[in-house]
Amino acid sequence: MTAAGAGVDAVRSGWRLTYDGFEPSAEGKREALCALGNGYFATRGAAPWARADGVRYPGVYLAGGYNRLRTRIGDREVENEDLVNLPNWLNLDLDIGRSGGFDERRVRLLNYRQELDLEHGLLLRTLSFEDDEGRRSTLRERRIVSMEQMHLAALEVTLTAENWSGTVAVRSGIDGRGVNAGAKLYARFSNRHLQPLESELIANDTVLLLTRTSGSGLVVAQAARTRVARNGEAVEPKGRPTLEPGYASLSFETPIAAGETLQIEKLAVLHTSRDRAIFEPSAAARKAIVKAGSFDQAHAAHSFAWEQLWRRFDIRMEVREGALKLDAQMLLRLNLFHLLQTASHNSIGLDIGVPARGWTGEAYQGHIFWDELFIFPTLVLRLPEITRSLLMYRYHRLDEARDAAANAGFRGAMFPWQSGSDGQETTQKANLNPRSERWVTDNSFRQRHVGAAVAWNVWQYEQMTDDRQFLQFYGAELFLEIARFWASVAQYNPARERYEIRGVMGPDEFHEGYPDAPPAGVDNNAYTNLMAAWVLWRALDVLDLVGEVRRAELMGRLGLSSEEVVRWDHISRRMYVPFHDDGLISQFEGYERLAELDWDAYRARYDNIQRLELILEAEGDSANRYKLGKQADVLMLFYLFSSDGLAALFDRLGYRFDREMIPRIADYYDNRCSHGSTLSRVVSAWVLARSDRRRAIGYLTQALLSDVEDIQGGTTAEGVHLGAMAATVDLVLRACTGIEARDDALRFSPRLPEGLERLDLSIRYRGHVLDLALAPDSFRVRSRSPGPAPFRLACGADEIDFPRGGEATFVLRRD
Ligand code: BGC
Repeated sequence: MTAAGAGVDAVRSGWRLTYDGFEPSAEGKREALCALGNGYFATRGAAPWARADGVRYPGVYLAGGYNRLRTRIGDREVENEDLVNLPNWLNLDLDIGRSGGFDERRVRLLNYRQELDLEHGLLLRTLSFEDDEGRRSTLRERRIVSMEQMHLAALEVTLTAENWSGTVAVRSGIDGRGVNAGAKLYARFSNRHLQPLESELIANDTVLLLTRTSGSGLVVAQAARTRVARNGEAVEPKGRPTLEPGYASLSFETPIAAGETLQIEKLAVLHTSRDRAIFEPSAAARKAIVKAGSFDQAHAAHSFAWEQLWRRFDIRMEVREGALKLDAQMLLRLNLFHLLQTASHNSIGLDIGVPARGWTGEAYQGHIFWDELFIFPTLVLRLPEITRSLLMYRYHRLDEARDAAANAGFRGAMFPWQSGSDGQETTQKANLNPRSERWVTDNSFRQRHVGAAVAWNVWQYEQMTDDRQFLQFYGAELFLEIARFWASVAQYNPARERYEIRGVMGPDEFHEGYPDAPPAGVDNNAYTNLMAAWVLWRALDVLDLVGEVRRAELMGRLGLSSEEVVRWDHISRRMYVPFHDDGLISQFEGYERLAELDWDAYRARYDNIQRLELILEAEGDSANRYKLGKQADVLMLFYLFSSDGLAALFDRLGYRFDREMIPRIADYYDNRCSHGSTLSRVVSAWVLARSDRRRAIGYLTQALLSDVEDIQGGTTAEGVHLGAMAATVDLVLRACTGIEARDDALRFSPRLPEGLERLDLSIRYRGHVLDLALAPDSFRVRSRSPGPAPFRLACGADEIDFPRGGEATFVLRRD
């Protein structure tokens, strides 16, 4: 095993994530990190010969491919919605020289290297080994999930017999006999989502497998074509099909002589009943597999698609020699890579949301949370069409959110904390605490702030793109219905002469209520209340922006009266915000009265205290009793808003906003945070950037390493943490350029952090393609492709009209 630093098992370069050595305990993590996808479907980086065996877990997931199953737990029946693990197209068993099915663990490995080539979207594996009889062989694999042909994936395995001659038996198939078993938390739930429909040989070298999910009726058609060549010359061994329920394969044997290389090329296609422009999935798969070219052809088209994507998305950093201990360049690209594999141009119009763990594993059941808040900024700056499509996922679930609000006695739209296929609440009712083995009620559905995140994203999209059509027809309706929800949840308290929001959970999931009381949520969570006030304030702008005609239509359709809008205005000026006695923003009402936790004692007693709520529950105690947090909550405000933006909101509410207090607030809450969510460190890094640089850099480093180092101790194997991945990209970008779209202007306050010599990237703003180049003493904005109209550009205090096709360079003062 090569180590690039203490505890680091991956060697890194600017474009490659490289693993040397085979390490069973690290396989799950590598499979998630080396998953390949194209925004339509994804495949974990398991070896083609791997089976789900507790060490490895092949997984194939369709974006938005969900199913529901019921499970009896004690005297209750629970329903779960899962992202379904689809039939495994990788399936390739090798019997090399009649030694039995190949498995790295049964041979002597001479070397083993696995590489994720981010530039070309390739997964590479090379291994040399010797078996019990001293026969040495080399296996190489190349794999893609095509970014260009979204229904296509391909792998090529080559085997070189180094010092022996004999026979190689190959079985290449599509295996749909698996279940969903990729996440520990759901181990006790029903997991057989797929029903076999058909297994068929459709050509001498091609099999087809047809399956269907049990409840959602998603029909999945996969075809795989396997071809073989010896030293580059095609051989056509006679294949024997195995066609069983849920499994279709071809087996063949072929001789190999010492020094010869056998190439096995497998092209696979996937179509489902969710696809557009097809008659039915099986016919589509049959057509597509006939059209699939060779691995090299597929690879060339795929590489070109990645080249185009990197042109838009790459962030090139020049780091001063020795300035950073980690390969930040590669890690940023890895994060962008996973983001694009989850949602890409292929995702546009697919009716999918962006799941917290990408499509790389089964953690969180592929559900969609508020993590979009951290993910969209990176997308909206480069390929805003993707963001638009992801926002449409929410728009199409507006009715479900309206019903949820109505059923809870509210108006408007109440978006679910966890969302899947149709937008109904998919949060678990209870979770098993592995420490206590007790089922604990899950109250996280009270995180109503998810709706504010949807509205925030609509607004940011509008500010960046000026896409008035979207706002008029979709965005405004979403926004206004969310605003209406907040207005109906907010209750006027005459004693305070302010509005309050009671019974919610803030982003910090550790507090689900008050000590010694049933967990009914907390009152006046500052983040929730301020976001609600912001939504109601901005809703007035939205009504303006859509124009008179559309405003009248929308108000008519939604039955929105002028009195209602007047009330929105009032609430946006009179929302209550709790403060501690010393003037610090309080996370929620009553937080100040909670007990302090003895952090040192817990750190001494437990190796990892990130999930303190589980520890406390297992001890018969409760996180509700303490001043502690799972993740940034109040601090989210400083992450989302610039201090000017927040000052304006406080001002409107009639509260004093003291900028000097920010470092104190940051310190106070950060000291009481266990960072049990990977989203949290990014926020702390941002908020502490000015007041405590060392701590901030520490957090950014940890955030960048979240998955590569699996800092939560075991969760990466079940899927990468896409929110944190995208947020680190956003953070680096914002920390360096200070980019913000506000008041119809594109604003920058650029500053290169120490150690960086230069940063280059390109963004899109309102139809302009802009190249940004940042050096320690200058910042240049150059138009690569002009948009429809000039815009206001601000850099620090300088503000100019930026003409179509223009260029501007700002001199930066070093301080
Ligand atoms: C965090 C949430 C997040 C979810 C999915 C949870 O652990 O507390 O804020 O949305 O993970 O990433």
